[in-house]
Amino acid sequence: MHLSLGLTFIPPLLIAYRSQGFWMTTNTYMEQPDVTFKKQLMLILNKPQPGEFLAWSTYSNFNSLLDQNSIRIPIVSSVESDVNGDGKFDQLNFTVSIPLESTESITSFGLLLIFDYKLYRMSTLQMETLAYISHSSVSAGSSFVAYGDLRLYQKTPLRHRGVDTRFNTTIVDSADSSASTYDLSTIFSAYSQRNLTTQFLNKYPVWKSGRGAQQPFTIEVIISYPTETITYQPGFWELIKWGWVQYVTILLLFLWVFRKINIAVFSEQLFNTVIVHPKIKRH
Ligand SMILES: *[C@@H]1O[C@H](CO)[C@@H](O)[C@H](O)[C@H]1NC(C)=O
Ligand SMILES: *[C@@H]1O[C@H](CO)[C@@H](O)[C@H](O)[C@H]1NC(C)=O
Ligand SMILES: *[C@@H]1O[C@H](CO)[C@@H](O)[C@H](O)[C@H]1NC(C)=O
Repeated sequence: MHLSLGLTFIPPLLIAYRSQGFWMTTNTYMEQPDVTFKKQLMLILNKPQPGEFLAWSTYSNFNSLLDQNSIRIPIVSSVESDVNGDGKFDQLNFTVSIPLESTESITSFGLLLIFDYKLYRMSTLQMETLAYISHSSVSAGSSFVAYGDLRLYQKTPLRHRGVDTRFNTTIVDSADSSASTYDLSTIFSAYSQRNLTTQFLNKYPVWKSGRGAQQPFTIEVIISYPTETITYQPGFWELIKWGWVQYVTILLLFLWVFRKINIAVFSEQLFNTVIVHPKIKRH
């Protein structure tokens, strides 16, 4: 009796456990992040002459590190739009126009934009992230246009609940006035160590040359904030529920099979059944 109970209830557990995914280690869900452009940026434009560049930033400490020939104040416009009216921005239209002398030309640039990035569904997460847009060309440019997505890049799964502010820290410490703080390699080295970042996927860059005299160099970037598939670590009850569903599914199969065997054994008398009649003593 105990043996058959054991044979019915234990093997499904072993099978469920041995087959992949009894303990769900990660799961995914979809969420559109709540992204806002923080209106912080750094722009560096390189001229074809080695070592000559133009730069500007919203960080005044960075600007004050530049010499008079290198600083160039651009005209910046940024418009974020909520296309589907769900209360979250879906895209940023960022344009910058850099006035140039007719003798000047630009062959490459790097543009750093800073974002505030929030998630609500599982972890309540807030962090500062960046988009880096860069391009270089052999020919001097008149304009650059790019269309891309700000994509989440996860090295490790998120937690299933709680507040996550691990990366709610400034990417560029604007209070600092040392040159190394504003060095892109310093910024990227720290940023790339993070387990959770965003990247600008620059899918369709268009570089145009043939700038007319007195014309500015312009950069237009359209950045979409798409819905992301986010990986997270399931909580205890989700694990139990998932394990239970698998166990019960296999158990039902076992119960059914055992019932069939029992019926077969008794109806077709696979074993010799000896019926022992008790001897009745007659007087
Ligand atoms: C982005 O903004 C610029 C200037 O504000 C405008 O000329 C351009 O058409 C806009 N682009 C898109 C895709 O909305
Ligand atoms: C993240 O940082 C910003 C700015 O320091 C702060 O206003 C905000 O409350 C922080 N978010 C959370 C969830 O702590
Ligand atoms: C990033 O992930 C690594 C590996 O899982 C972990 O050791 C580290 O603590 C994580 N860093 C943060 C800030 O969570």
